[in-house]
Amino acid sequence: MTLQIKSLDEYKQAYKKSIEDPETFWADQAKTFEWFEPWSSVLNFKMENSSFKWFEGGKLNITVNCLDRHLSTRGDKTALIWEANDESRESVKLTYKELLAKVCQCSNALKELGIKKGDRVVFYMPMVVELAIGVLACARIGAIHSVVFAGFSANALADRVKDAGAELIICSDFNFRGNKCIEVKSVVDQAISQGCDSVRNVLMYKNSNKDVDFENGRDVWWHDIVDKQLPSCDPEIMDAEDPLFILYTSGSTGKPKGVVHSCAGYMVYTCYSFKNVFQYKENDIYWCTADIGWITGHSYIIYGPLLAGATTMMFEGVPTYPEPDRFWKICKKHSVTQFYTAPTAIRALMAQGDKWVDSIDMPSLQVLGSVGEPINEEAWHWYNDKVGKKRAQVVDTWWQTETGGIMITSIPGVTDSKPTYASYPLPGVQPVLVDPKGNTIEGNNVEGLLCIEYPWPSILRTTYGDHDRCIKTYFSPFPGKYFTGDGARRDEDGRIRVIGRVDDVINVSGHRIGTAEVENAIDEHENVVESAVVGFPHEIKGQGIYAFVISDGNIADKNQFIAEINGIVKEKIGAIARPDKIKLVEGLPKTRSGKIMRRILRLIAADRISDLGDTSTLLNPEVVEKIISEKTEV
Ligand code: WTA
Repeated sequence: MTLQIKSLDEYKQAYKKSIEDPETFWADQAKTFEWFEPWSSVLNFKMENSSFKWFEGGKLNITVNCLDRHLSTRGDKTALIWEANDESRESVKLTYKELLAKVCQCSNALKELGIKKGDRVVFYMPMVVELAIGVLACARIGAIHSVVFAGFSANALADRVKDAGAELIICSDFNFRGNKCIEVKSVVDQAISQGCDSVRNVLMYKNSNKDVDFENGRDVWWHDIVDKQLPSCDPEIMDAEDPLFILYTSGSTGKPKGVVHSCAGYMVYTCYSFKNVFQYKENDIYWCTADIGWITGHSYIIYGPLLAGATTMMFEGVPTYPEPDRFWKICKKHSVTQFYTAPTAIRALMAQGDKWVDSIDMPSLQVLGSVGEPINEEAWHWYNDKVGKKRAQVVDTWWQTETGGIMITSIPGVTDSKPTYASYPLPGVQPVLVDPKGNTIEGNNVEGLLCIEYPWPSILRTTYGDHDRCIKTYFSPFPGKYFTGDGARRDEDGRIRVIGRVDDVINVSGHRIGTAEVENAIDEHENVVESAVVGFPHEIKGQGIYAFVISDGNIADKNQFIAEINGIVKEKIGAIARPDKIKLVEGLPKTRSGKIMRRILRLIAADRISDLGDTSTLLNPEVVEKIISEKTEV
């Protein structure tokens, strides 16, 4: 069994061993899984080339470890609980045996559609059980899944499908969220019409009774092709380093990156971190509210919990529907023991008042996880006091799409929790703070750029189709280290607090959005000359999007113009990237070499004018005053 740390001493010992002898440490973890063939070497790497080979020579299939492996001891245990958006619908429960059968049926259907090892399959689906089944079915036959969050626009979906060269898109007809019924398939159709030539088929799950366009020859109904298949399918034998999935995420430049994770290292690390961070015990009910379209859903709804033989829950809906006590009602209904959500959800529910949470007792809750963005002190206390009623431990987990699993966190019952601090690294994780020149900042009570010094098993392997970009983004800024893009501080006891991104990525409601992506969209408007987008503090979302826009002057109606800009961003990226505020300006502050001074725009957006300091070295200092006094802000 995977090692589970139970005391501070055990944590210290495990940490020490993981640093002094990482290969033995991780080999001990890897031994707890089923392999078709053992590995010949634990780790070979060259950080500067983004070359990481964990468990080289080993052969495995992650779904054997998620599913088949548990049948002898947990075959009839509930693997997955699904809660519908509609409160009156019954929960769906699948045992490990049933889930394996469904995954195999889907695997066989994928094979019938000609999908084979190495092919890319894009998912554009709501949080239905079939999404989890489909993802695992890909892994079973060695196809590479790439889940695209169903809130992205057709344009954004098309970009990802093209970049991945996907042969198949798996979607649903519609998506139910709150009181909305959202078209899904029509977005897929629009995306395909934008030149997704690699797509041969669309596999569509019927999620409603409404009519939907259907293209004979290309489109296939899930119930027509999956339900008739045999419930067994031999797992594909995968090399340890074969890719498992691609997940697109935003970076500093305009184009999202396809972060690639591989089979063995990801398996070992997500299982290890899941068991420790959530201190999972055999009869616990674990619920992560993330969407499977993000890394949190991959690692901590599907893979980590299933690898650990846990009962994991999936929720289709939103926290405020039908009322703002939905999360708490579900926690009570299923006696949830570990609950994992994002600060933005906590803040949104906090804003609805205490009565919703006060009236529901949830004595089963033991661990309350937070992820995706820094959690502010007020939200931390509300989570601890109101949701956990001071009986559960809040764990603030810092990690990234690129890290595959949780890196810095408290461990319940083992290390304490300090508000706003992610705290200590998990075993195997070696965080360091560096200054902009790359010098390591020693000691405590210091701030710097967060890097990781040594590979851990689920470190990203590449960015799909562009290995140089991976090297440049993560491994070149500080040679010999992985650069996270985050700034952090270390307190007097060595705990780490992650402050936020230091690059041009903003974190809106826990969703990563590149400012360049939003600028590119805004600039598509024919009357836009130039734009600059920055983040600003937002009470609920953590960060909001603030766009400064220069028009060509041919605008009859400013409100109309701003509405059009919003429409373009929604069309190009999705509603999640729509600016919260747009200010029409005549110029943007620039350095003498012509670069936009974002620092100044961030301060203006945050209404911190008094912190602006000396702006006289700008190419156009007069513009700052004009921006501040400009009244058109919508
Ligand atoms: C931020 C989500 C502070 C951080 C798993 C990181 C956090 C980015 C925390 C990754 C946390 C995530 N405290 N900041 N506990 N967790 N972040 O790739 O800026 O969607 O770089 O992965 O979210 O976002 P991503």
